[in-house]
Amino acid sequence: MSKENPVLFVIFGGSGDLAHRKLYPALFQLFQKGQLDQHFAVIGTARRPWTHEYFRQTVQDNLHEGTPEQQAAFAAHFYYQSHDVQDAAHYVILKKLIDELDQKYQLQGNRIFYMAMAPALFGTIAQYLRSEDLLSHDGFSRLIIEKPFGHDYDSAKELNDAIVNTFDSDQVFRIDHYLGKEMVQTLPYLRFANPMINASWNHDYIDNVQITLAESLGVEERGGYYETAGALRDMVQNHIMQVIAMLTFPEPDTLCDQTVEAAREQVFTHLHQLSEEEVQANFVRGQYGPSADGKQIGYRQEEKINPQSNVETFVAGEIKLDLPQWQGVPFYVRTGKRLPEKKTRIDVVFKKATSNLFGGESLAAPVLTIEVEPESGFVFSINGKQVGTGTEAVLHDLRYQLSDADQQLVPDAYERLLLEVVRGHQSNFVQWQDMAGAWHFVDKIRQAWEQCDCPDFPNYASGSMGPKAADELLAKTGRHWIYQG
Ligand code: BG6
Repeated sequence: MSKENPVLFVIFGGSGDLAHRKLYPALFQLFQKGQLDQHFAVIGTARRPWTHEYFRQTVQDNLHEGTPEQQAAFAAHFYYQSHDVQDAAHYVILKKLIDELDQKYQLQGNRIFYMAMAPALFGTIAQYLRSEDLLSHDGFSRLIIEKPFGHDYDSAKELNDAIVNTFDSDQVFRIDHYLGKEMVQTLPYLRFANPMINASWNHDYIDNVQITLAESLGVEERGGYYETAGALRDMVQNHIMQVIAMLTFPEPDTLCDQTVEAAREQVFTHLHQLSEEEVQANFVRGQYGPSADGKQIGYRQEEKINPQSNVETFVAGEIKLDLPQWQGVPFYVRTGKRLPEKKTRIDVVFKKATSNLFGGESLAAPVLTIEVEPESGFVFSINGKQVGTGTEAVLHDLRYQLSDADQQLVPDAYERLLLEVVRGHQSNFVQWQDMAGAWHFVDKIRQAWEQCDCPDFPNYASGSMGPKAADELLAKTGRHWIYQG
């Protein structure tokens, strides 16, 4: 039976970096696997006056797999339409091309519109898609939206209102690529498919949870955007919050979209809202300076960055949930650019045994580490006997790591999520209520930071694990980061 899903993609921002680096290679993977075959087409739109041929070449230039024949066969499904998103007449031309391709490739009227461009115009595009009759009459019409989705709650709400005026909520797919990562997807399996883990997944057994999203790269060529965002908006509001939700949402009765969405919403509506004092005490911000050896420049020296910029490139903080299961459990989160290495991992630190039958120092805390990237797997550090004639207990690691062969089977996050949109599955996308909750939460942090003096930036050297204050955050309660960099 054919796996194929007939569909047309219309990419707004089709000449851009995201489309070329992420979307087209992801579609190519789907093409290679037969999920897209003869019955699909892609229209890239942007202002630049490209030809179809030039566009196809740029698409092919960004594919790093497959034979030249496979790449060319894939790129032959690509069309380019120069388009001014604010001009109604351009939508009429676009509609003509959509209808032609629908016929040519027998796409059954299925359409996915992807907003891979400046969010300020999302609402305008959505409105024109309806008013100029670009939405499907006989198939599905779906809309994918990229971040940044607003810069605070109010602007996100404004964007959302503009979109939901045109599209029903089950047609809107707000993408967070962390939800497409293999090991993030594994979290519900770890929790709900193992009753002994599920039974201990609460404040009775868990002391704290640590989430680290470390990057070795700096801001690179994205200075213009980053100056308006900073690490809090760029990584905490979305990716870290989604990881927390995957770690903590209450067990749903089924895995159908609505049930999972309702379970995840529980997390976002029960984020402990921080007072100004709590922000000052429990959130740390940092900005990278040059590396100790002087080989890497500081943030303020990067391109398109204000030389006096106080934008943070590092955040660490403590997040709590007002849910009975998680009462009192701190979620320590940390993200930063120019840290020693790229590392995404979650350390679930369990409580220590209250009595020690085995002599020596007090027992160590068992830790379940979920390695997201670049390694993928988990390590369960549990107490066992020290080998030999002694009597002490020590931690032993039970380790599972994806084999190279498994790793080959892991789809890229965009590949997985694009396929889910084609199939109409919503559960790995961000619902508006979740986004609203996350914005309310980070807005409080931002507002509290605006009320006080900024720390003396830069406050960590490129290549270090961030400002000292991030260690002190845990040290003041006798804890430490399990991952030390
Ligand atoms: C993006 C941020 O959302 O995520 C980037 O805008 C960041 O600043 C990136 O580098 C990290 O994603 P990943 O998949 O490389 O961990």
